[in-house]
Order: sequence, then C-alpha cells, then structure tokens
Amino acid sequence: MCGIFAYMNYRVPRTRKEIFETLIKGLQRLEYRGYDSAGVAIDGNNHEVKERHIQLVKKRGKVKALDEELYKQDSMDLKVEFETHFGIAHTRWATHGVPSAVNSHPQRSDKGNEFVVIHNGIITNYKDLRKFLESKGYEFESETDTETIAKLIKYVFDNRETEDITFSTLVERVIQQLEGAFALVFKSIHYPGEAVATRRGSPLLIGVRSKYKLSTEQIPILYRTCTLENVKNICKTRMKRLDSSACLHAVGDKAVEFFFASDASAIIEHTNRVIFLEDDDIAAVADGKLSIHRVKRSASDDPSRAIQTLQMELQQIMKGNFSAFMQKEIFEQPESVFNTMRGRVNFETNTVLLGGLKDHLKEIRRCRRLIVIGCGTSYHAAVATRQVLEELTELPVMVELASDFLDRNTPVFRDDVCFFISQSGETADTLLALRYCKDRRALTVGVTNTVGSSISRETDCGVHINAGPEIGVASTKAYTSQFISLVMFGLMMSEDRISLQNRRQEIIRGLRSLPELIKEVLSLDEKIHDLALELYTQRSLLVMGRGYNYATCLEGALKIKEITYMHSEGILAGELKHGPLALIDKQMPVIMVIMKDPCFAKCQNALQQVTARQGRPIILCSKDDTESSKFAYKMIELPHTVDCLQGILSVIPLQLLSFHLAVLRGYDVDFPRNLAKSVTVE
Ligand code: F6R
Repeated sequence: MCGIFAYMNYRVPRTRKEIFETLIKGLQRLEYRGYDSAGVAIDGNNHEVKERHIQLVKKRGKVKALDEELYKQDSMDLKVEFETHFGIAHTRWATHGVPSAVNSHPQRSDKGNEFVVIHNGIITNYKDLRKFLESKGYEFESETDTETIAKLIKYVFDNRETEDITFSTLVERVIQQLEGAFALVFKSIHYPGEAVATRRGSPLLIGVRSKYKLSTEQIPILYRTCTLENVKNICKTRMKRLDSSACLHAVGDKAVEFFFASDASAIIEHTNRVIFLEDDDIAAVADGKLSIHRVKRSASDDPSRAIQTLQMELQQIMKGNFSAFMQKEIFEQPESVFNTMRGRVNFETNTVLLGGLKDHLKEIRRCRRLIVIGCGTSYHAAVATRQVLEELTELPVMVELASDFLDRNTPVFRDDVCFFISQSGETADTLLALRYCKDRRALTVGVTNTVGSSISRETDCGVHINAGPEIGVASTKAYTSQFISLVMFGLMMSEDRISLQNRRQEIIRGLRSLPELIKEVLSLDEKIHDLALELYTQRSLLVMGRGYNYATCLEGALKIKEITYMHSEGILAGELKHGPLALIDKQMPVIMVIMKDPCFAKCQNALQQVTARQGRPIILCSKDDTESSKFAYKMIELPHTVDCLQGILSVIPLQLLSFHLAVLRGYDVDFPRNLAKSVTVE
C-alpha cells in the first residue's frame, strides 16, 4: 500500500512554499499507508515561462525527512508565485525494490523528467513491459514496477501519430497495456498545468474547491470506443456537446483547486466536495476543467460521476468506518491475503512462483532441514504451517522462538535453511538469530512485511508478504499473510512431486477461495460482539485445539491477553489430561476450536472431557458439524476450507473477539500498555 496525493491550483496564486506545505500535509495524512520513502514533483519554473522543467525531490524515510529535504534545495525560491501549478507527491510502502530515493516515487520517463508518475498498487506484467521498453533503448534506473509506466507513456508519446495528441489519450493507451492494480497520477512538461489521473483496483478520489458555484454536480462520462482524434474527426458535433457538458468548468476568471488522493483523509481539510473515480476512469484537468473519460462502459454503467459531499471527520476517514486500526486491519484481510498471492499463484496452471526464492530453490531442496524462527505472532505463523511444510517439502521442519533458539545455542549447520518470520523485519531477537545462523553458514530466508528492513536486507533471499503497513500493535493481517507466504513456499517446493499433485491442487483451489471465505467469516462480527458482551468481565479465557489449529489457539490467546489484559492461554487439546483439565469448571470460559480435519475425533474426546467437568464450551466449528453442536454452550460456525488453510479462517473470530473484549473493557486497542509495534531490543 502507498499513499498518493496531488494538488492543482488553477488561477489561485500560490507560493512555492504554500504548494510544498499542501503536498507535505497531504502525504502526512496518508503516511499510515506507507512510510519507507517519499517524494514530490513540482514545476521548476513557472509553467508559463517557455523553458519548462519538472523538479523531483525524493528521500528515503518518513515524510518528515522529505519535508526537511525540500527546504534544503538551493535552486528553489520559496517565494516564487505560481498562478497555476500542478504538484504530485507520494509516500511509499515498498513492494518492488528496497526503500531508497531512486525507488521512491514519482518515477520518471527519462533524465529530462518529461513524464512523471505516482502509483499505488502492483503492476503484475511489469517485467514483460520492461523487457519491451529496454529493447527499444529505454534505460531503467530503479527496481520498481512503476518506472515501466513512466517509460511507457514516453514511448507512446514519442511514437504518437499526431502532434496534438491529448494527455488523457496517452494515459488511456498506457493503461490498456497494464495488468494488476493501480491508482496513477501523471504530470508532464509537455502538458504544463494539466493533470491526468486513473485507477484500477486501487482507490483514488478527487477533491474540488472553488469559491464559485460549480457548473455541474454530475460529471457525465465521455465514452471512447476509439481514440480521441478519431472521435473528433468522426463526429465533431457530438464531441462539442460532450465537451461543453462533460467538464466541470472553471473558465474565464474563475479559480479552482483540485486535490487527488488515495483516500479522503488527505482531502477533507481542504474541501468536502469529492468525486470517487471508478476502475478505468481517466480524469483529466486542462485549462481548469475536469473531465472524465472511459474506454469501456463501467460495471455500474453509471453514465456520470457525482460530486459528493463528505460528511465525515478526518480521524474517522483515516480509519474508514472503523474505530481502531486493528479493527480496520482485521477487515482488510480479504484484500491483504489476495495481495500476498497476487502475481505469485497461477490458479490456471496450479503453479506458484516466489520471485525472491527461485534462484535458491535447488539449494533449499537439497538441505538437511528447515528451521523457521520468529517471535510472538510471527512464531505462531511458523507453528501454523509446520505440518503442511513437512508434508509438501518432505523435510524435517523445526519451529523456534528466536529468544529460546539463541538461549540454547541451538546447533545449526551449513546445509540447514533458516527462515526468519517478522512483520517489521526489525525484531531484535529474530535479527540476532539470523546473524547467528549466518555465522554458521546456513542459507537464510526472510519473510517480512517491510522491504528494506534489517531482516530483509541481511537474509540471503526472501519473500515480501505484501500485507500493507500494519499500524495496530496487535498483529492481525500480517499473520494471515505470513501463513499464506509459507504455504506458497511449500507449494513451490513440491511442484515436481508427482505424488503430491492432487494435494497441491486442493490447496491452490483453497487459496483461490480464501478472500471470499474470509469475507464470510467477517460477517459474523455482530455475533462475536454478542459473545464478547458475555465474556468481557471474566478474568480468564482458555482457548483449546490441536493439529492444524493449535497455532490458532496460541495466536487467539496472545491477541486476547495483549489487548484485553485478561489472562488467556492457548492449550493443545492433546495435553488437556496432563494438567489443564484441572482448570475446567462451570465458571471457566473455554473456547474450543474443532474443525472437520484429521483431528476431529480427538477434539471430540477433549470436548467430552470438558463437558464431563461441567465446562461450558464455546465452540468454533465447521458449518456442517452436527456433532459438536450437541455439547456446545455457544457456537460460531465457520465456512469450510482445506484442512491446512482452515487456521486462516479460524483465527479471525478470535481477532474479532479480542478486539470487542478490549473495547468493552475500555482499553486503547491500538496502543496496549507496555507494548510497542517493533521490538528492537533483546
Ligand atoms: C502480537 C505481536 C507480536 C509480534 C512480535 C514479533 O500481536 O504483534 O507478538 O508478532 O513482536 O514482531 P515482528 O513480526 O515484527 O518480528
């Protein structure tokens, strides 16, 4: 996830300093979407001066670092006034290429900055495009997918058939070549004072501010079935009509400002009048007029885009309709798991390609064992996938808490492959364990959510889980994405194992349906809230299960204890009679995770033991489970998926439960006491 923000002042004089302040403020509002590097593109000179140029300022680090950098630029006269100006800005969360100035946005077409672009999303066919453009002599400077877009628009421009091709036509041609997801805003020295923005799969909206009454509240869509030039020639009269009605006017002495952003949090302080773009809309501003074009009719087939009035407060918008980032992140999981798989799992050919591991696959296949190391939730992701990794890789798999692994001076050999799971990529224990394994010459693999983090830099190779920034201290979406990343690794390892093909296909089918099934689980939120109402005054909560769902219990109990401050324990149901059974009585709330998997019968035994001691089990079970229901005090029924992926669905009710319990107990969900998001001390 990244944040994009752009600002156009048309006949509203602004000094360069004021433009900087607007751009930086916009980025700061979006910083929660990404914060590893940031950049802006602005006019070097007043665009009315003949000799135009675009100035790029980019900086690794948070928006604050960019802000400081802007004021260090000698060539920038802060007092210079622009009657009309268009500036674009971006805060990045790396998906391709480490955080660095050169990889940050805006990306440019060439050293002359003829076209610059900011992007949120992932272009999945960027390698093919890059190869094509390189064959045409374009030289790339970054590792990003976005640079291909900047180069591609220049290619289209350089090869245009008419001199007067419009900016939006160029963009239209570019997006026809793009696969994946994007929200894009373009600026060009060839089109001074003009802006073009478009989206597919990533959000983008436009705010409008003017002291004059807007000429329209609905912007009719101009559909193009052929190029604009052709349309012009073919039906001049129709174009005329569209030209006069399709634009939001700001002509003559009228003044207007446009704000383009990934979400409303960056716009609301300037205006509450916004237009939400739909997939494949191309919005263009020229001469202060905004028009929206499409090549194809939209899914909604709405022939216009309304200028809407936002009623929300800023804080509300940043978290969407959610009261906490943790809640937002729980509800983002259909999207985040999809992003983890995007461009990696091919559901047609049943293949998985993790680009960061492919060159090391032979070596990994030859190894003695896999050691998967992490702390807290990241460790639980290792526990959750251990069995399926053993099955798919046919290798011994050890899972280790980083601190304990170090305390034991665990023997590690050069033919071991060690995985380091970490959302932040900065956890001190995990990092030290990594250095320990490196010293012993094992191959090291990072599985992180933070490109450019210490763990991703210091490992030999790795997988970026692409979950987007996680702000809530309690990890939620990172867990499900780590889980999927490890399963994808297992699938990649087993690609040529004939005996495993049916199983692989079953798992890949399961992966495909996960986003939809997660949505189904999230729809149980109200029911889970009701359960929390019953439980929130309790002192303790046990969570019990086994097999594929043991990790669910550990992770659920961790979520409960860290944000509700209740005592909670994840118990392996197989261990029940070896001690924990003594805790069971009428009073003790116990959640049992019982899924239709190979451990089902054994879980039924545990259930009997609990009910025989007057325990009142709250059961998380499969929808079609008629047996467990006979003994349940309460039931939460979940959709069924393949056994080794069930833990992704079964953990979500526990994430939701911990959230509701914490709110009911009056605690700050996003900032639990004594805890920090990134634990950089041992
Ligand atoms: C729990 C939680 C922690 C982290 C642990 C490791 O909700 O967030 O247990 O999982 O501190 O952090 P990372 O994954 O950043 O290494």
